[in-house]
Amino acid sequence: MLNELPAEKAYRVLESGPIVMVSTRGTDGRVNLMTMGFHMMMQHEPPLVGAIIGPWDYSHRALSDTGECVLAVPTVDLAETVVDIGNCSGDALDKFAHFGLTPASAQTVEAPLVRECWANLECRVADDGWTRRYNLWVLEVQRVWIDTARKETRLVHHQGDGRFSVDGDTLDLGERMVRWRYLMD
Ligand SMILES: Cc1cc2nc3c(=O)[nH]c(=O)nc-3n(C[C@H](O)[C@H](O)[C@H](O)COP(=O)(O)O)c2cc1C
Repeated sequence: MLNELPAEKAYRVLESGPIVMVSTRGTDGRVNLMTMGFHMMMQHEPPLVGAIIGPWDYSHRALSDTGECVLAVPTVDLAETVVDIGNCSGDALDKFAHFGLTPASAQTVEAPLVRECWANLECRVADDGWTRRYNLWVLEVQRVWIDTARKETRLVHHQGDGRFSVDGDTLDLGERMVRWRYLMD
């Protein structure tokens, strides 16, 4: 039996990339975090990521002003914090302090890394031509940091309605990727 889902609920099926946090530093020096489920890899080289960050987010101002952010990828132990970070505004709240997260210096951007996250991607805005229409920012990844000492590496994936799936088994089908061998390193 096929049950239809309203078309505007497509995100419930496709949103499930890892939930991430966007870290910014405004021109006033204040750092902030927001939660983001709508994002996608767009290109290998240079590495481009599409990110939906709208004017309803306080972070939008810092991103517009500086053209920089960090995408911080949390693991399952941070899931509740990540949801809470996406349910309050940095306008009047220091989210790093409030949620007990540690800002760490990045190398190519002023926005801080989040030390408690498994991965941090330093990004610069490469194209803001779609922001007015779709709130879509094309970000170019400058540096990627992975915390290799971290034992918990399971990422969480938003199903669009406050439910999340958690990484489980890994299937290594690299041998079958005959056409894309150069991507397997
Ligand atoms: C699970 C989850 C996913 C979210 N995904 C996005 C997203 O993809 N894009 C976006 O603009 N806001 C998204 N939000 C909303 C922002 O995180 C939210 O507006 C947040 O309060 C913004 O923080 P700020 O105002 O301090 O920038 C999401 C929130 C949650 C809880």
